[in-house]
Amino acid sequence: MQAVVLVGGQGTRLRPVTYDIPKSLVPLRNRPFMGYMLDFLRSAGLDGAVLSLGYLPDPIQAYLCDKQDLGGFSVDYAVENQALGTAGGIKNAEKYLDGDTLVVVNGDVLTGMDLARTIEVHRASDALATIVLTSVEDPTAYGLVEVDHEMLVHRFIEKPAADEVTTNLVNAGVYVLEPEVLSMIPPDREVSIEREVFPELQESGRLRAHITSSYWRDIGTPRSYLAASHDVLSGAVGAREGFEYLDVDPSVELGKNVRLLPPVSIAEGCTISALATIGGRSSLGKGSVVGEGAVVEGSILLDGAEVEAGAIVRGSVIGPRARVGNNSIVRGLSVLGAGCVIGEGNVLDQGIRVNPGVVVSPRSLRF
Ligand code: GTP
Repeated sequence: MQAVVLVGGQGTRLRPVTYDIPKSLVPLRNRPFMGYMLDFLRSAGLDGAVLSLGYLPDPIQAYLCDKQDLGGFSVDYAVENQALGTAGGIKNAEKYLDGDTLVVVNGDVLTGMDLARTIEVHRASDALATIVLTSVEDPTAYGLVEVDHEMLVHRFIEKPAADEVTTNLVNAGVYVLEPEVLSMIPPDREVSIEREVFPELQESGRLRAHITSSYWRDIGTPRSYLAASHDVLSGAVGAREGFEYLDVDPSVELGKNVRLLPPVSIAEGCTISALATIGGRSSLGKGSVVGEGAVVEGSILLDGAEVEAGAIVRGSVIGPRARVGNNSIVRGLSVLGAGCVIGEGNVLDQGIRVNPGVVVSPRSLRF
């Protein structure tokens, strides 16, 4: 059985990170997200995947070309010239499919669910499509799916207001489809599976749901990306053989009295100066630099990021080669784009996003 992995979206909610890195390649514990996705599909016994690409396809293909160890799992690429949406992207992959039942996965879903079991449940039913559902605490940011006692889907509610919430079950972005569903998708135009194809299947009574209670999270926003990173670091999901809470590459230069509070992941070529603290659930990408006495906690530093002496970074994402100046504070789900420079003494908080390359002047205090 094959999977179509939808990885063509622009990842607007995760900007500015996704201006430079497609969402499917953002690292979790210094490993591109796509690695976890392939583990997930392979562990369910699938034979291969077609990646449905659109936005920034080249780095995704380059990442997979380097991978030699897929053990017979095939990977094909269907690249769109224009955004075709979540169903259009599946249709565009059809030429690589074998005409059998297939799995479709949103390329930003991190889950420990039992996909093989979902496939079994689907096969034992008369459904043309089975949607995996998961429960979330705040369903207002998702598409709600109401089901009856036989797991037949009977209503969709897209991103409901708080007073419209009738269930906490949401579309988990994992589907099993019969090949007939492909013939319902018009070619060469943008089509949404959630808004166009599923409602039609629901009306014909051939759309079923399967609920998972396993770990599930999408990595589509800074909050959920950081949460997924924390979960992978602490081994809640995606842990592989040899998992260590203190995952520090031997090439890392550690100054005197550096405090490393596990779980952390520090990739090759990083330099951490004396008295710095790398707090729990932080991940430092290749060649990152942390200056003397600086603090990094619960954050992601992408490759080549720099946190200068005395600066504090908490619960935030620092883009590749971005620099946080001396004694600056970056906290509260802030996200810095690639190569931006935050001059000395600034405070960035409350989910602020700084675009790639922007230079924020140092504080100038006159006494
Ligand atoms: P936002 O802009 O933040 O909503 O992100 P997104 O569009 O990348 O993701 P969204 O959650 O809206 O879409 C779910 C999945 O479908 C993601 O993995 C996307 O990469 C993928 N996707 C969205 N639009 C397209 C598209 O036009 N073509 C393809 N091939 N995939 C898409």
